[in-house]
Amino acid sequence: MNNFQFYSPTEFVFGRDTENEAGYYVKKHGGTNVLLHYGGGSAVRSGLIGRVTQSLESAGITCTALGGVKPNPRDTLVYEGIRICREKKIDFILAVGGGSVIDSSKAIAMGVPYDGDFWDFYSGRQPQAALPVATVLTIAAAGSEGSGDSVITKESGGLKRGAGSDLIRPRFSIMNPALTCTLPPYQTACGATDIMAHVFERYFTNTTEVEITDRLCEAVILTMVKETPRVIADPANYDARANIMWAGTVAHTNLVGVGREQDWNSHGIEHELSALYDCAHGAGLAVIMPAWMEFVYRHNVMRFAQAAVRVWGCQMNFEQPEQTAQEGIVRFRRFLRSIGMPLTFDELGAKAEDIPALVEKFGIGDGRTGGFVRLSAEDIADIYRIAVEPKLI
Ligand code: NZQ
Ligand code: ZN
Repeated sequence: MNNFQFYSPTEFVFGRDTENEAGYYVKKHGGTNVLLHYGGGSAVRSGLIGRVTQSLESAGITCTALGGVKPNPRDTLVYEGIRICREKKIDFILAVGGGSVIDSSKAIAMGVPYDGDFWDFYSGRQPQAALPVATVLTIAAAGSEGSGDSVITKESGGLKRGAGSDLIRPRFSIMNPALTCTLPPYQTACGATDIMAHVFERYFTNTTEVEITDRLCEAVILTMVKETPRVIADPANYDARANIMWAGTVAHTNLVGVGREQDWNSHGIEHELSALYDCAHGAGLAVIMPAWMEFVYRHNVMRFAQAAVRVWGCQMNFEQPEQTAQEGIVRFRRFLRSIGMPLTFDELGAKAEDIPALVEKFGIGDGRTGGFVRLSAEDIADIYRIAVEPKLI
């Protein structure tokens, strides 16, 4: 196991009706003048924004609303949010929504005290300060409620890039699983796929002797395999929603990834798809993650065979472990299909002729990227090609 430092300062407030305590927690964490940031309408329609606003007002907190965050959140609204925060002297940002709303809030939080363009933080610069951010989560997916990451899309040029800093880890996250019961099945499945991908990006590693994190990873994946079909069949199942919601957070605080080398190439390769086609991040991952597996599994057949046996219930073929590894990838795709996810470029609405442009935007030139397997630009093109026509399906 490698040396590591693990910092996860977020206070998680989990359970029914917890959104009504938003005012109490903002006050507890020092907020007096809040930007209430939300999405395209679901949180208004469900009455959630009304309940949160009431809770803030009852706690004597001033509140300015800024809705309209789109999935794959754009820089344009971030600039707007920064302007409003400066003008109104906002001292706390409360995100009510999913990963997109939370990531937009984090971008605004870094941008307000910074003299330059906030996009600098999405081009490698580290912030020195940020407004405090907290969340009321409405979808189990991105894990942004417990992460120090934010992903924003630049409207002109369609660049989707990430920023990371402990300064933007949420101060608190309110998580009421009942809020996720209004999610359409497709969105639920996209979220489930993203959660599983966050675990697999950590699971496939060259670091040895990491039994504890291997087992934690497997526990999260097994939970998702059991609970996702339950909520697809019965969207109002609170207990299944609760297990998925906490799995989503555990998957991405890095608790399951510490002390081991990780590989985020599938995410990077997917981000180019959601930037170009504006597809859901989870749907893009359903197409890319198994394609990446199909490309890299020979690098460490036994690790893929281990996943196949422990997670997908395959029989170990000791004479030909490669077959076991392949069977695991087939079963992963079968699972994704069963929850309604796309598996190919075609099903996602992506086009094979765009592959050179996607690779170009990925932007590694003659270099290599990744942890488990270091990929060249040509390797990335091959992974997109596998996603056009998968073999292990
Ligand atoms: O905008 P509204 O009307 O709220 O609708 C949203 C949106 O259309 C809807 N929704 C959310 N909660 C709902 C609901 N509909 C009904 N009932 C509810 N309770 O769901 C749609 C998707 O929302 P979004 O926030 O985009 O989903 P998600 O949480 O999957 O976030 C995706 C974004 O997070 C980034 C992705 O790249 C993508 O941009 N990621 C962020 C990460 C991070 N910050 O740590 C890590 C991830 O790997 C990911 O890259
Ligand atoms: Zn993700």
